[in-house]
Amino acid sequence: MSEPEPPVEANAVERTDREHVFGTWSYQSEVDPTQVVDASGVRFTTADGNEYIDFSGQLMCSNLGHSADRVADAVAEQVRDVPFVAPNYTTDARAKLGEQLAEITPGDLSKTFFSTSGTEAVEAALKIARLYTGKQKVVSRYRSYHGATHGSISVTGDPRRLAAEPGVPGTIKAPDPYAYGSTLDPMESLEYIDEMLMLEGDTVAAVLVEPIVGSNGILVPPDEYLPRLKEIAHDHDALLICDEVMSGFGRTGEWFGCDVFDVEPDIMTMAKGLTGAYQPLGATTVTSAIADHFEDELFCHGHTYAGHPVAVAAGAAAVETYREENLIEHASEVGDYLGERTAELGERHPSVGETRGVGLFRGIELTRDPEKRVPFGERADKVSTGTTVVDEVSATAADHGTYVANMINTLIVAPPLPITESEVDEAIDALDAGLDVSDDAMDD
Ligand SMILES: Cc1ncc(COP(=O)(O)O)c(C=O)c1O
Repeated sequence: MSEPEPPVEANAVERTDREHVFGTWSYQSEVDPTQVVDASGVRFTTADGNEYIDFSGQLMCSNLGHSADRVADAVAEQVRDVPFVAPNYTTDARAKLGEQLAEITPGDLSKTFFSTSGTEAVEAALKIARLYTGKQKVVSRYRSYHGATHGSISVTGDPRRLAAEPGVPGTIKAPDPYAYGSTLDPMESLEYIDEMLMLEGDTVAAVLVEPIVGSNGILVPPDEYLPRLKEIAHDHDALLICDEVMSGFGRTGEWFGCDVFDVEPDIMTMAKGLTGAYQPLGATTVTSAIADHFEDELFCHGHTYAGHPVAVAAGAAAVETYREENLIEHASEVGDYLGERTAELGERHPSVGETRGVGLFRGIELTRDPEKRVPFGERADKVSTGTTVVDEVSATAADHGTYVANMINTLIVAPPLPITESEVDEAIDALDAGLDVSDDAMDD
């Protein structure tokens, strides 16, 4: 474990960047970018010479770590051979990745629309569901994030939605399976969705969920939740869309979050781990029944960069890397170990309210009062100024050599899949130091 470093002044790059580039989701006066100069394996190095274990895979997307040579080579080769062709042409990698996704996604999911981000993957899913069913409404949940563009932010439940309201009409929010912090039992919340769909009449095109909720706190539903949700959606002639942008590509120790529950959605959205973050790429994969519908109906959607050759080359090489390096199995094994180590943190630190998760997708939820489960970070903090105790926990972990993202009241642990047990140990030591800060800040 490295010793805490004293704070350093911003360098010239950081100052220039701060002046000319917007920081995302932030009051610009609080933006303080740090220059990264090197990245390798599960670590990255900043310009001041500090090295960090990447315990959140940057934005829960660097699933392959920072040394996936096969992907880097595929990108370099493609950019030299055929850097770009319009979407009405194809390339070897585009056909290959389409086929690979049909193989690794569950059941009959077989045809893909490629875009450049998670939010675009969700936008495509929403339009496809509406065009296919002829219905307009979409039910999603409050503790969710589906992207920043207008449709995706309208179906997002978390506070990032509020600035975009009133948003797209026909986007309805349901309660979540959140046993620790909600007044509703997870299975009761599910039956409420059944009632919502009944009350909406036959007007709902789709129910959209993250099978395991990501940035809103790593919420794992009971085993029977997702199968029953599919049943409810289909009973009301609505589609089930699983947003696997964060939970996909080995994060859970399975290819996809829905595989944990043996559920095949009608539409699946992917991004992030699809290329291990080596290129921006989104994917929306549908069943053959939905694909067939568009044989004689207009697929009224597209982008200049739909199936960008360099991005799909990265995707095809990434899928090969997951397969050939057995990263899904590895994530499952090290994920069990990570689960044990985070549970130990829970036993040691009274400010840890709950640890939860699957595979290498873990959340550590904090509390200032374990009896009453009072959070340190409130939902409103996501869009307000200043730092929370949870931010201070992350900052202290960083001082001890580990980067860990947090959202509202939960530390989000989602390291690159190749992480080893000893690297997990190193990062857990840093979190141990960070959690002393929240222990000290508890209510008396
Ligand atoms: C579940 C989920 N869906 C969609 C998105 C949006 O992806 P992007 O930021 O690539 O647009 C995210 C981003 O974090 C996500 O976690």
